[in-house]
This record gives sequence, C-alpha cells and structure tokens, in this order.
Amino acid sequence: LASIEVDVSAVEPGMSLTVKWRGKPVFIRNRTEEEVAEANAVALSDLKDPIARNANVDATAEATDLLRSAGEGKENWIVMIGSCTHLGCVPLGQAGEFGGWFCPCHGSHYDTAGRIRKGPAPTNLPVPTFAFISDSVIKIG
Ligand code: FES
Repeated sequence: LASIEVDVSAVEPGMSLTVKWRGKPVFIRNRTEEEVAEANAVALSDLKDPIARNANVDATAEATDLLRSAGEGKENWIVMIGSCTHLGCVPLGQAGEFGGWFCPCHGSHYDTAGRIRKGPAPTNLPVPTFAFISDSVIKIG
C-alpha cells in the first residue's frame, strides 16, 4: 500500500500513536502546548541538524518547530518516521534529555520536534509525506 489513512480523533494532547507504513513505524503525536513551546524556544544555531527534513516542505527549509509540525493551525501534531537516523533502531517516546524521543541503541536524544540534539544520529527524524484529509484523519504517503 502506497498510502494509509489514520483516524487520530482519539489521540488527545500528550498522546501518541504508532502506525506501520511501508514496513516502518510512523509516530503520530498530539503534542502538548508545553512541548510545542519548548521546541519553539530552541535557537536554530543550537541544532545539530538545522534542516527540517520534512517531505511536505522545501528540501532546504529550516528546522523550525512549525516546519517540523503539521503546519499552521496544526502545530500540535507531529508525524515522523520512527527510525533513528543513526542505524535505524526505534526510538522511545517521551524519553531522553530533551523530552522528545530517545534511541537506546547508542544514545541519541531527540527533542519534542523530533530534532536530533545529542548522540550519534546525524539528522532529525524524517517527516513523511502526509496531510490531514479531514479534522481527524491523516493520510500518510
Ligand atoms: Fe539510534 Fe544508534 S541506532 S543511536
């Protein structure tokens, strides 16, 4: 299947859902206001990887929280391929030093926008092609 549709109506702020897409886990998180604020407070110069890595925006776009998220009005939603950019382990949610995701394989810490902040992973967790096709359904792919 090239694309999947996911109903996220039951995913309240602070909750996540993991779905399988093209054989890989995809993390869908409805972030809390605090998580969004925390990510917004980070200066781009503090990022190891300053590129958004979001298939839905320009390939050179900066890794601001907005450009990592589902966009204007949907900033609380983040959708990412759950495969550590180091060697592909599946990171754990709400873990690590930056309150986002933590890869226990070799210790990569991602922030609440899925941006790599510490550890061997070279790049941010990638955001796949996706779109909200209604208020509560996300189409991935
Ligand atoms: Fe994640 Fe190595 S695979 S840190």
